[in-house]
Amino acid sequence: MADSADNRPWPQAGYTRMILPSPIGWIGTGNPDPEPELLARMDENHVFMMGDNPALPRMPEKPTLFDFFRYRFNPIAVNHLLTSAKRAMEDGQPDNVVMACMLHDLSNGCLVRPDHGYWSAQLIAPYVDEEVAWAVKYHQALRYFPDPAVGYEYPESYYKFFGKDYQIPEYLRRDGEYAMQHKWYMTARLVTMYDKYFFDAPVEVDYSYFDDLMARAWRQPEEGLGFDDSPVAHMWRTMIWPNNFL
Ligand SMILES: [Fe+2]
Ligand SMILES: [Fe+2]
Repeated sequence: MADSADNRPWPQAGYTRMILPSPIGWIGTGNPDPEPELLARMDENHVFMMGDNPALPRMPEKPTLFDFFRYRFNPIAVNHLLTSAKRAMEDGQPDNVVMACMLHDLSNGCLVRPDHGYWSAQLIAPYVDEEVAWAVKYHQALRYFPDPAVGYEYPESYYKFFGKDYQIPEYLRRDGEYAMQHKWYMTARLVTMYDKYFFDAPVEVDYSYFDDLMARAWRQPEEGLGFDDSPVAHMWRTMIWPNNFL
């Protein structure tokens, strides 16, 4: 719980609150569309969920980046992001590289997986150096582009994820080729080089390890993420209230 002394009442008191999963979470999976059945269940006792869900930790009123890590993101994403940032930091990489490592798969935390580099870049753009958002965007395509000159090979894990013969779509080929010619190429390339999975070796990372870095390289909005009226505020709000009907 974000704040154990939190006495805010839960919304929609007295009602059974129904959750309609977002289409992106189930479409194509073979599961039936849940909407018709839930709509049919609506009555004086049943409403659709809006606002805080007691099944999730309550977010502080002015959430910070790490509040999302703590209270929303799945453990695999948290471990992956913090581990890669920590390794980059220990190697003495510049702030922009460490930040890009920390944020590169952000949207996988609890938003969406498809085109995660693009979503993650958009989520962070107002709050980081332009180079960081750029590197996060292009790491997705560059993961598929070996660069033996710097010691980066096509990831073994991708053969397992996608099969041996998987071919990337044209837009990723275009973006990867573009990124390899760009002045910030090595920033995005370093993200791909610290982009390792350590499923078997979870590290305990203390968030305070990154205090100085965050003070230098993350522009925390005063109103809290989700409430600063930035072009991406709604995306953060969606992660605060992922079960809202509308
Ligand atoms: Fe990624
Ligand atoms: Fe990653």
